Amino acid sequence: MPTGVDAALGWLRREEKASIARLMDWLRIKSISTDPVYAPEVQRAAEWAASQLREAGLSVEVCGASTPAGVKGHPIVMAHSPGAKDYKGPHVLFYGHYDVQPVDPVELWESPPFEPVLKPAVPGGPGERIVARGAVDDKGQVMMFLESLRAWKDAGGAVAGGVKLTVLLEGEEESGSVSLEKFIRDNTATRLAGCEVCVISDTGMLARGRPAITYGVRGISYTEVTLHGPDQDLHSGLWGGRAPNPNNELVKVLAQLWDKDRRVTIPGFYDAVRPLQQPEREEWRRLGFDPVEALKKIGYGKDADVGEAGYTAMEREWARPTAEINGVWGGYTGAGAKTVIPSKASAKVSFRLVADQDPDRVRTSFFEWLRNRTPPGCRWELTDLHGGPPATVKTDSAPLAAARRAIERATGVKPAMIKSGGSIPVAGLLNSILGIETIFMGFGLDDDRVHSPNEKFEIDCFRLGARSHAVLLDELRVVTA
Ligand code: BES
Ligand code: MN
Ligand code: MN
Repeated sequence: MPTGVDAALGWLRREEKASIARLMDWLRIKSISTDPVYAPEVQRAAEWAASQLREAGLSVEVCGASTPAGVKGHPIVMAHSPGAKDYKGPHVLFYGHYDVQPVDPVELWESPPFEPVLKPAVPGGPGERIVARGAVDDKGQVMMFLESLRAWKDAGGAVAGGVKLTVLLEGEEESGSVSLEKFIRDNTATRLAGCEVCVISDTGMLARGRPAITYGVRGISYTEVTLHGPDQDLHSGLWGGRAPNPNNELVKVLAQLWDKDRRVTIPGFYDAVRPLQQPEREEWRRLGFDPVEALKKIGYGKDADVGEAGYTAMEREWARPTAEINGVWGGYTGAGAKTVIPSKASAKVSFRLVADQDPDRVRTSFFEWLRNRTPPGCRWELTDLHGGPPATVKTDSAPLAAARRAIERATGVKPAMIKSGGSIPVAGLLNSILGIETIFMGFGLDDDRVHSPNEKFEIDCFRLGARSHAVLLDELRVVTA
């Protein structure tokens, strides 16, 4: 009879169908955090996860959360395992999120977003996969971890493989983690006491069959801006040329956000940006990433490989900040033509940030930049929606070395060291409040359609991830932090 990690890996192999079936149950719960209509579903998804953790032998609480202004947030699931008596490794905090993005445009889904389906492999295309909202971001990835816990327990190993473990599952990640900072501060000395390193499975691999550890994610500052003009909508024939049009004026101002080199023009925007170093640029070049191949997969030709001058696509994603207009609206957007000058125009503008940029400072200077460009007769309404700092991880820590060994043992492949342009606000918070580092060990692929219709998670990726987490629990035992 195998024991320890071999038993856990055997269990994962034998029980894979049941693991996938459990994931599908979770995916049926519509935990869209940004839309208050789904609050009961978000609650249900939290309780579902709590029951899984209980079955894996942990002690579990579903905690209430609220913003600093006292607005009720979505629940945070906390769980603890005591750790084996002889356990010498670090006290690990596992973080994941059980909330998901909205599903729109829903008509582009080939199957309903909350009715997960298992689709067979396509030769030369994606492998066997689960299609559903949240399949990879992040329920499927959290599930790899939950199943590794179940494997250790059910195969006769200790709870969590004997590792001293705290689990925090959040329900607001996709809407800016607005209750999280207060929760972490309120629980530093209690529910989060003693945590020494964080593990997060919410990132991607370098490519199919090329597992990776992500050692940095970008921060974000997300705003909504509205330009108010006349106190009523106007006939664009009678008033066009006589009264400023908020649509015209808004897009003229926003178009000034970038110069001809596609650099952001807000004064001081790059001041805190750590310049890229030559050795790191060379390491990234050696990863052999092909930006034109990647563009092809999203329907772009090679002339679309543009961005801030002087940097490769990978450098632009991993190490340079950007400004994006996520949405822009105003006036008439229905069918046919209507001649109108609207009374207001709006946009959702966000900035992706890199070390050592500060989301509050970036937002403040953006708002000041807008005020300095207030179009004649108009007025701004400026709203901060959310923000989170960038996170860069030390690459020479003992827990990170354990994760590298775990992935290699579990998959037979040495993990690539990569960064990601996405944002996971909790990592920066944990670093600044608790002083701990995060290991991002994720198993998504860049064609998983994260946040888009037909989001998927490939079964091969799930398998690699579940195995890697099971072995990580084993490796952590020999780590002295
Ligand atoms: N898991 C993603 C971020 C991600 C995806 C990082 C792939 C690395 C690789 C996360 O759920 C996400 O979508 N984050 C938001 C953050 C925001 C809402 C504060 C993002 O990046 O837009
Ligand atoms: Mn995520
Ligand atoms: Mn996401």
